[in-house]
Amino acid sequence: MSHVLILGGDGYLGWPTAMYFSARGYKVTVVDNYFRRHVCDELDVGMLYSLPTLVERAKIWYEKTGHEIKVVIGDLTDPELMRSLFTGDKLRYQWSIGERFSGSPETVIHYAEQPSAPYSLMNYKTANFTLSNNLIVTNNLMFAVKDLSRDTHIIKLGTMGEYGTPNIDIEEGWIDIKHKGREDKFLFPRQSGSIYHTSKIMDTDLLWFGCRVWNLKVTDLMQGPVYGVETEESKIDSRLKTIFNYDELFGTIVNRFIAQAVIGYPLTVYGKGGQTRGYLNIKDTLQCVHLAEKNPAKPKELKIYNQIMETFTVNELAKLTEQAGQDLGYNVTIKNIENPRVELEEHYYNPSYKGMQELGVKPHYLTKDSMIEMFKLVIEHKHQIKEEAIFRGIKW
Ligand SMILES: NC(=O)c1ccc[n+]([C@@H]2O[C@H](COP(=O)([O-])OP(=O)(O)OC[C@H]3O[C@@H](n4cnc5c(N)ncnc54)[C@H](O)[C@@H]3O)[C@@H](O)[C@H]2O)c1
Repeated sequence: MSHVLILGGDGYLGWPTAMYFSARGYKVTVVDNYFRRHVCDELDVGMLYSLPTLVERAKIWYEKTGHEIKVVIGDLTDPELMRSLFTGDKLRYQWSIGERFSGSPETVIHYAEQPSAPYSLMNYKTANFTLSNNLIVTNNLMFAVKDLSRDTHIIKLGTMGEYGTPNIDIEEGWIDIKHKGREDKFLFPRQSGSIYHTSKIMDTDLLWFGCRVWNLKVTDLMQGPVYGVETEESKIDSRLKTIFNYDELFGTIVNRFIAQAVIGYPLTVYGKGGQTRGYLNIKDTLQCVHLAEKNPAKPKELKIYNQIMETFTVNELAKLTEQAGQDLGYNVTIKNIENPRVELEEHYYNPSYKGMQELGVKPHYLTKDSMIEMFKLVIEHKHQIKEEAIFRGIKW
């Protein structure tokens, strides 16, 4: 089976991805520097429950399934660490049973970035960190593949936020433009709403450069906000669950609303609540990444998929949370607050997302029943929710 290297393998998506591929017989190596955990501790933001370390998780996974996930702890802005993952030179595992997997990884899944828009706009230091961390990790990866392993397929997580909310249909990554009687195909125009999203646009541009100049093979998954926790693999042992943030900095909207509903904190709808975005269940992220791995880009190709399963306005999500909460006996209230962000609160939004459907993804839709499942998990850990972490009023 082929070797999949997961950068950011301790994160919300990285750890479930590692288990998913490992359960399907792939050789898996994960790398992380615990940035996400450290920043959550430093800023005292809301994590619903504490997590075992990455090494402990890999050991639990091995005990329960007999599958090995090799663990490397280190900062991928260090180019030598990145290169050692391809050559094996001076590579030190924090946990590994056997020898290094021979050869270079066939696929790299790149999640290792600072993923929060509010964090990127807390101040100039967090903005600088976001730009430098995200771009240098991507650049280190691009050069390692160019210099050491041109056959490796890079799967990188982009975001639907790169496109913004244009007043035209959003295509899957590319657009044909006719101009003064001539035609060409270009990356779809991007106009993000935060420094974080801008760093993702720049990532895409970097890797597109690598495809054109060095024949790299890249798939960019323009993903919407992900919700949910449980996957097939996490159900094997409760300690294998992924991180759950319910705070303004690192919590995604559905996860946040459910935590707010459970402690009786009014659901914080920013402005008019007409902001529309595409969403997906964490189980569908895993399916999509797997489909991308099975259908690699060709040399010189930048494949782009819009990775969402359905769209909702913020008001619709708040309503659904209210209904699910009421079914469980909670008195859920909704409060429109002054929008701390610069964004359109009512707008046209019609993204195409046929690509993954054509590859065969089987969507899990967000319903009242699926929300109730998430409520149950949050209720179990209700006593850990810190009300003061929910809203800090980070503005831009
Ligand atoms: N979660 C979502 O809703 C969502 C939506 C769209 C796109 N994405 C993208 O998916 C990717 C993963 O997101 P996530 O929600 O799992 O975030 P996350 O913060 O949970 O995971 C990222 C992981 O990368 C690690 N990391 C960051 N910088 C690193 C470095 N320099 N060296 C080593 N490790 C480093 C972090 O410690 C963290 O564990 C990100 O690129 C994000 O932009 C996420």
